[in-house]
Amino acid sequence: MRLLLTGAGGQLGSEIARLVAGLNEKRARARVALLALDHSSLDVSSRDQVLSAVLSFEPDVVIHAAALTAVDSCELEPERAYSVNALGTRNVAEAARLNGSHLVYLSTDYVFDGRASRPYLEWDEPAPISVYGRSKLGGERELDGSHTVIRTAWVMGRTGSNMARTVLRLGRQTRGELRFVDDQRGSPTVASDLAAKVLELATARRPGLFHVTNQGEATWFEVARQIMAAAGLDKGRVVPISTGELDPPRPAARPANSVLENAALRLSGDELLPDWRESLDRLVAEIA
Ligand SMILES: NC(=O)c1ccc[n+]([C@@H]2O[C@H](COP(=O)([O-])OP(=O)(O)OC[C@H]3O[C@@H](n4cnc5c(N)ncnc54)[C@H](OP(=O)(O)O)[C@@H]3O)[C@@H](O)[C@H]2O)c1
Repeated sequence: MRLLLTGAGGQLGSEIARLVAGLNEKRARARVALLALDHSSLDVSSRDQVLSAVLSFEPDVVIHAAALTAVDSCELEPERAYSVNALGTRNVAEAARLNGSHLVYLSTDYVFDGRASRPYLEWDEPAPISVYGRSKLGGERELDGSHTVIRTAWVMGRTGSNMARTVLRLGRQTRGELRFVDDQRGSPTVASDLAAKVLELATARRPGLFHVTNQGEATWFEVARQIMAAAGLDKGRVVPISTGELDPPRPAARPANSVLENAALRLSGDELLPDWRESLDRLVAEIA
């Protein structure tokens, strides 16, 4: 199988590349030929670059993990957000169509407004409340139903900018209290678990929309406490605040509830990802 990966330098992309390298070592036959393109080797907002990369490599499958993921930057720079997240996905979809590749697009829990009092299903109506959410939903709409859309949430990995790395840094370098919001609920997800399921769905070319997150739900306050405890630090230093108490306030609105029910996987009888606490403890041990 020939696999082209965009956003290969990101949290998810780097885990997918690691996983493929590991699988190739184990299985000399049935190897995956991977072209892992990070931002410096492919800018998805350039139609010419995308067409040239895809049409020259001729992948069977494209995993499109590149995105502008900084939610507040998207709010401040909407043109950039749309050119990467929405138009960039149009470019990748066009190239995949011309080459006959199966396309897997990564999307987000932030396509929902967060007003539901239960977890969101794949079949619930999106209603994004931020530029990031709207631009990622724009990307979803560039794919037809024969391809794969995977919505995930609250991703934390070994690299990049994420909650696990932030809490560990603050926990070790400061002494005072650490304030985290307790009124936003979501589905914490560890990048390596997500990468394995993305690769599974991609190689099987499973069509349709899937929510893929670790199981269980939490607020950021609960996630921060779990990280401190897993690192052997004092979780009592983590103090709950409301979103309204954030100083300074964040430019982009966040959904109060963006818990994703992994209904499509569950109802199909597919194995679900482990509970977030188990995977996060493992991640903290790896980072430490
Ligand atoms: N992180 C989360 O909590 C989260 C939650 C829900 C959904 N998702 C989705 O999951 C996917 C993977 O996210 P992630 O956590 O791996 O994010 P990430 O670590 O920010 O990785 C995204 C990568 O895309 C690259 N990129 C940005 N603009 C680009 C462009 N114009 N062309 C090519 N590459 C570009 C970035 O490179 P530079 O940093 O060098 O610009 C970065 O390496 C994304 O589609 C994201 O929307 C993420």
